Amino acid sequence: MRLEIRTDPPSEVIFGPADFGLLAARHRKVAVVTDRNLEKLYGGRWREELKKAGLPELLFAFEPGEAHKTPRTLEEIWDFLARSGLTRSDAVLAAGGGIVSDVAGFAAATFLRGVACYNLPTTLLAMVDAAVGGKTGVNLPQGKNLAGCFAQPRAVWADLGFLDTLPEAEWQNGLGEIVKYGCIASEALFERLSRPDWREELSQIVFDCLCIKQEVVEADLLDGGLRQLLNFGHTLGHAIEKESDFTLPHGAAVGIGMVLITRFSEEKGLTEPGTAAKIEAMLSSFGMPTSFPESREKLFAAAASDKKRRGDRFTLALISRIGHGFLQEFDREELA
Ligand SMILES: NC(=O)c1ccc[n+]([C@@H]2O[C@H](COP(=O)([O-])OP(=O)(O)OC[C@H]3O[C@@H](n4cnc5c(N)ncnc54)[C@H](O)[C@@H]3O)[C@@H](O)[C@H]2O)c1
Ligand SMILES: [Zn+2]
Repeated sequence: MRLEIRTDPPSEVIFGPADFGLLAARHRKVAVVTDRNLEKLYGGRWREELKKAGLPELLFAFEPGEAHKTPRTLEEIWDFLARSGLTRSDAVLAAGGGIVSDVAGFAAATFLRGVACYNLPTTLLAMVDAAVGGKTGVNLPQGKNLAGCFAQPRAVWADLGFLDTLPEAEWQNGLGEIVKYGCIASEALFERLSRPDWREELSQIVFDCLCIKQEVVEADLLDGGLRQLLNFGHTLGHAIEKESDFTLPHGAAVGIGMVLITRFSEEKGLTEPGTAAKIEAMLSSFGMPTSFPESREKLFAAAASDKKRRGDRFTLALISRIGHGFLQEFDREELA
């Protein structure tokens, strides 16, 4: 399976293991950039692959975690690339989760004013979201993803074999976003996920998600409605993440956010009755939480005040039923 993404330059997603032979045919040097957890698990294999392809064994690993998605790590990667003597025609292979593709992608896009970057996502979230679309960046003390740029990866390899070692909590991050894709754009995807043997169909599920992400990325310049629909569950999800002191994984918080906002839109008569219950049942089947101890009023107020800065009216992503997202304007009072 393969998916062309018509960006400039074009990008593609290839289902299967990374093709080091292709990298060696295109570049003299390829630096694998990853985090320390993944280096322990897969570093030996990647070094072996580089060697087999006739490439020098260049691998750099940084400390895992959001706290290391920083300008300091960016600088360490630049330093490694410079010491390794990479030239404009060489490349970076970002091998890891969304943190690796964000920071290594930014490093590649800026080193020598831009060398080629290839993505090898190892988390479910990175496969369905972060590794595709070309958004790269790092966090600043003032906030998440405040410095970065758009830079399309030349190719992305979706190798589901990596998921064999993915910790359970990390699955929730990917599943939260996958349920979201189903809710806003594909009832077929939602149904596929509700089958007891959904894991057997995971590559089709990832493919379905990427088709939706592709549409969003290709329409990105227009910032059409679909782009904003990707915020479904996130307005409340972010408030829940904050209230939990970031102890809840992002995907779990978004899951609860989708249930709460859909119950609200059902009450407003904007959503087919029973839709929130369907989302709830789906999340429960994955062992994910569907409620949060903080009162709904408090969460809505927190979300509304967060949006306040952008004026009195704001747009919420909702669904009329599974697979059908839409945008609706509310004013702050109505939500709070
Ligand atoms: N650029 C985008 O479009 C985009 C989209 C969504 C999210 N993001 C960013 O992605 C980041 C989150 O990414 P993530 O959820 O992939 O987290 P992550 O990169 O932190 O990876 C999660 C953890 O799992 C470990 N891990 C990864 N793959 C593994 C595997 N196969 N086996 C065992 N352990 C493994 C990692 O070492 C890490 O500790 C956030 O910083 C977010 O801002 C970016
Ligand atoms: Zn998200």
